[in-house]
Amino acid sequence: MTDSHRVLLEFDQALTAAVRPETPQVFINLVTGDCIEKLPEIDAESVHLIVTDPPYYLDGLDTDWRKGTGETPRATGAVGGLPVGMKFDPKQGRDLQAFMEQTGALMLDALVPGGFAVVFSQPRLAHRMAAGLEDAGFEIRDLFAWHFTQRAQPKAFRMEHFIDRMDKSPMEKKQLKRQLRGRRTPQLRPQFEAMVLAQKPRQGTFFDNYLLYRTGLIDTGVTLDGKAPSTVMTVEKPQKGKNNGHMTVKPVRLIEHLIRLFSEPGQVVLDPFLGSGTTAIAAHRTGRACIGIEINSDYINIAEERLEELLQEAQ
Ligand SMILES: C[S@@+](CC[C@H](N)C(=O)[O-])C[C@H]1O[C@@H](n2cnc3c(N)ncnc32)[C@H](O)[C@@H]1O
Repeated sequence: MTDSHRVLLEFDQALTAAVRPETPQVFINLVTGDCIEKLPEIDAESVHLIVTDPPYYLDGLDTDWRKGTGETPRATGAVGGLPVGMKFDPKQGRDLQAFMEQTGALMLDALVPGGFAVVFSQPRLAHRMAAGLEDAGFEIRDLFAWHFTQRAQPKAFRMEHFIDRMDKSPMEKKQLKRQLRGRRTPQLRPQFEAMVLAQKPRQGTFFDNYLLYRTGLIDTGVTLDGKAPSTVMTVEKPQKGKNNGHMTVKPVRLIEHLIRLFSEPGQVVLDPFLGSGTTAIAAHRTGRACIGIEINSDYINIAEERLEELLQEAQ
């Protein structure tokens, strides 16, 4: 790495963005820690855009998702012995909403007025995600779909397995299986993920706010496919990288598109749930500064490696 790159990458520095809207920023600051503790360290009104992909606290996707917890180690993606997708506990939605209200309030403090937050959500939890952010003080402006065409694994389950475990005669089981042939749990093949578009309330009109903070108006010249940008964004899922074992990596191209739409070069992008660093990479590639917070140091290490690779490629 050259000296200029070292200046650019300030891993684990104090979280002081201290920006005025007219001052272009170039730093990338990756921080290991719980965003509930780290977000308050960011200067108030110093971030122009948040792009983030929080954990849903479902199917084992919490901070210990790769390791299992305590005395009940579990395989990745399974909770309490149930396969992924079978744990439909309404409490999880309420917990997610409360968590998003708490973290949303901290994100709101960091954003300048009129700044946007694009927050990924599993489709069936998007209402909880939006309600949590709204209760934190954001205005909910839209819902987007990240659409992908690859054949995803359908999560629906056949009934045979349950019938086999029933206390019934072989004949009754056979009849039940015939009756339920073709029936599965109600999950279609997933082809999109939701993104909630939230905005910090503006100061004055859209026009006033833009002149003050350079936020709140979008650049509709930005395109993914040569057409005007729309609420459905088709980008294929990234290939699993040899050095990136993170389970939910987002495509850099999609995050770049969001960053271009909702911020300007030299502005500061924040991701409080950075994972393997996709937002930091997209921010750097689009000429924005980035603050990324991630609780799992393994993932911060992956993010650093990905950024260093990117900087080496640029040389
Ligand atoms: C869905 S993943 C983000 C993946 C990311 N978009 C990428 O492309 O790699 C969510 C991340 O949030 C992290 N996380 C969970 N709770 C956190 C917290 N309280 N503070 C910071 N990070 C947290 C998890 O470790 C996980 O890596």
